[in-house]
Amino acid sequence: MSEVRVVSLPGDGIGPEVTEAMTHVLEAVASKYGHRLTVAEYAVGYHAFEECGTPLPDETLAAAVKGPAVFLGAVGDPRADGLTGDKRPEAALLRLRSELQCFANLRPAKVDQPLVTMSALKPEIASGCDMVIVRELTGGLYYGMPRGNDGTRAVNTLVYTASEVERVARVAFELAGRRRGHLTSVDKANVLEVSQLWRSIVSDLASEYPEVTLEHMLVDRAAMELVTYPARFDVILTENMFGDILSDEASAMCGSLGLLSSASVGGDVGLYEPVHGSAPDIAGRGIANPIGAIRSGAMMLSHSFGLQEEADAVEGAVTRVLADGLRTADLAGPNGKAVSTREFANAVAEAIA
Ligand code: IPM
Ligand code: MN
Repeated sequence: MSEVRVVSLPGDGIGPEVTEAMTHVLEAVASKYGHRLTVAEYAVGYHAFEECGTPLPDETLAAAVKGPAVFLGAVGDPRADGLTGDKRPEAALLRLRSELQCFANLRPAKVDQPLVTMSALKPEIASGCDMVIVRELTGGLYYGMPRGNDGTRAVNTLVYTASEVERVARVAFELAGRRRGHLTSVDKANVLEVSQLWRSIVSDLASEYPEVTLEHMLVDRAAMELVTYPARFDVILTENMFGDILSDEASAMCGSLGLLSSASVGGDVGLYEPVHGSAPDIAGRGIANPIGAIRSGAMMLSHSFGLQEEADAVEGAVTRVLADGLRTADLAGPNGKAVSTREFANAVAEAIA
């Protein structure tokens, strides 16, 4: 028996709905495999700002750094549009990532065969695509100093140190070694000094991983190849902002942003979040796609608790429920029949039991 202790931060918008769905699936796993699941919930995001005047209350941060695993639903709210700096809901997420030192963000993007017609790409291009984007998560433009906006001039700073590049690159090389052995490092080395450093550090590491074939690709070309020849990618390694953008692009290949999961690793505590945002336009209606959240829960079982069989059981259950034809609204198409967030999660839980 294992203790599966989760710090749960449902957050804003559809965050609470998809978090509830993920928790329900974890309960099914715990009961089937005889683990003890405890879920402690804390406030984050706009909703925390309203309650406590800050999007990341001390109590939330203290619980998160204790871990061992943090699940985050989503942050962001249109009512926060007037807020700046560390009052913004997104600032809570950036601070959390940095405090947990989870510098490597793994974002798998795999086309589920039953959903191939939902892909924004032609089925023959999308079919069989299976990649993981390793996004550097605690450096780059989103953190660099100086930053600011005085109304007439604004500045952000892109900075990476060699050790920041090396540690995330090692995660990507190791992952590629366990997969198909192909690593694409994405940068903008024809223009940016930071990318030139990135490229040289990554190149120097390649000899330590002879089982991995390394290629470098400029980010603009990578954006194009992701929609023209996505099957060429196995593991993509890239810096923070490029990874943010390319992972949303990859979700269009899969059919919906609601499908993508992520694990942020590197520190003592793992942080797990669906890639989608808070989607305020559909919040509270029970129609959000919980698959990204449920798959993030599976990544948590595997990465934070070493429960690989259980993680595979969750993945397998999602695959079966999709093969059975269940679809949330984003995947049902205009004339298709859609089930609610809760119905989908119930079906996954039943498929595990
Ligand atoms: C993501 C999100 C966040 C990011 C935002 C909400 C700060 O877009 O996880 O991709 O940019 O990292
Ligand atoms: Mn993003």
